[in-house]
Amino acid sequence: MTATAIDGYLDFLETRDGEVDIYAETLSGRESFYRDIDAKPVRSRHVFDREVFLRNVRQARAEPGLDTHMSWLLATARANQSERFGVELTKLYGRADLEEEERSEGVHIVLQETYHTRVLSRVVSIFGLPVPHCPPPPLIRFMIKLMVFSPFPKRLTMPLVGMNEMAGCVIFAALRDRGMELFADEPAVVARIRILFDEILADEICHVGLIAAGLGRFGRAVTRQLYRRLGANMALGSPEFVAALGRDEIERRFAEPFDQRRLAAQFPDTAYAF
Ligand SMILES: [Fe+2]
Ligand SMILES: [Fe+2]
Repeated sequence: MTATAIDGYLDFLETRDGEVDIYAETLSGRESFYRDIDAKPVRSRHVFDREVFLRNVRQARAEPGLDTHMSWLLATARANQSERFGVELTKLYGRADLEEEERSEGVHIVLQETYHTRVLSRVVSIFGLPVPHCPPPPLIRFMIKLMVFSPFPKRLTMPLVGMNEMAGCVIFAALRDRGMELFADEPAVVARIRILFDEILADEICHVGLIAAGLGRFGRAVTRQLYRRLGANMALGSPEFVAALGRDEIERRFAEPFDQRRLAAQFPDTAYAF
């Protein structure tokens, strides 16, 4: 990785994330973001069947016949479960080296990912619903474990991680846009959905850049190949994403070229262009 890329990113992180507290697992800049959000709660007029939501969010395959609004909510809750599963596993098994790396970008990333689970549960809470703690479906669990527990050197698993970060960018943008479309009649809900998803999206765009910067030309090519071959299929393999977004929309989004700098430019204050 070039020293300038990483130095530039670390400087950026200091401004965006503020102070790191590895024991409280907080970033002062992010705490103030949540204080602002929580000080102005937004509640949708849309009423979801709580029992149907809770029943479906716990099972691998949602029951047929759910409307798009409910499917979108389930997809958002599911995205939260995968994030949480990966992050908690990483921390639980000491794979994050939080204590050793106080001043590194790795600490910021683990803590950012921890915040993402809070962001997504805030989205679900707009509709007065909780996200119960349960593991993601088996295929997702397998992928996550492969990344967390791989016996291979990090450099070999990084393309897989990079591909997942790229796919995350596409999926979070698609979920954001669909959410804003579905609740278009409630401007406050639309604004809140945008703020929350953009917070995650800006981070994931940086994670893609950071991983690419740490790989050589070959590693980056492998990452791109994995993304091209597996990205869309991964999303299409999740029934809740298909129900919420539609196959065509998923395929269309994954077919677009992925350009980290162009994406980062959409978030001039919150993303770093590598
Ligand atoms: Fe994340
Ligand atoms: Fe990430």
